[in-house]
Amino acid sequence: MDATKPLVMVLNGPNLNLLGSREPAIYGRDTLDDIAVRLEEQAATLGLELDIRQSNHEGHLVDWLHEAGARGALAVLLNAGALTHTSIAILDAIKGINVPVIEVHLSNPHTREEFRHTSFVARAAKGTIAGFGAASYRLALDAAAALRQ
Ligand code: DQA
Repeated sequence: MDATKPLVMVLNGPNLNLLGSREPAIYGRDTLDDIAVRLEEQAATLGLELDIRQSNHEGHLVDWLHEAGARGALAVLLNAGALTHTSIAILDAIKGINVPVIEVHLSNPHTREEFRHTSFVARAAKGTIAGFGAASYRLALDAAAALRQ
C-alpha cells in the first residue's frame, strides 16, 4: 500500500470468482486472478494503487463502495455481475459516495437476454465499458487514470 498514489478499488460481484471456467464462450478463459495480475502491472505503470476484491454478497459490495468513499478513492471499477440488473442498494451506495464509479462488464449485456438490458449501476455510473472480455478491465483502468487531475 502506497498512500501517495491515487487509489482505485476494483469490485467484483457474484459468480466472478468462477471466471476461467464459467461459460467461457461468453466470459473467456481468463480467471479473475489473471485479470488482477495484469491490472496490477498496468496500475504500476500508471502510478495508481489498486485494491481488487470479489464477493458473492450484495452487502459486501455496498460496504466496499462506502469504504471507497471514506478512503477518498480516485475511482471504483465495478463489475456487479447480475446485481447490476437488480440492486437498488448498490445504486444508492454509488449515489451516496463522492467517487466516480466505472461500470465494467466482460460481455455486452445489451446483446444478451432482455433482463440484462437494465442496469441500476449505469444510472449513477460515470461511464460504462462492456463487451471487450477481460480487456474491459484494462480499458476501465485507463479511464480511471484519465480522471486524475
Ligand atoms: C457480467 C454481465 C452480467 O449480466 C452477468 O450477470 C455477470 C457478468 C459481465 O461481466 O459480462 O455475472 O457482469
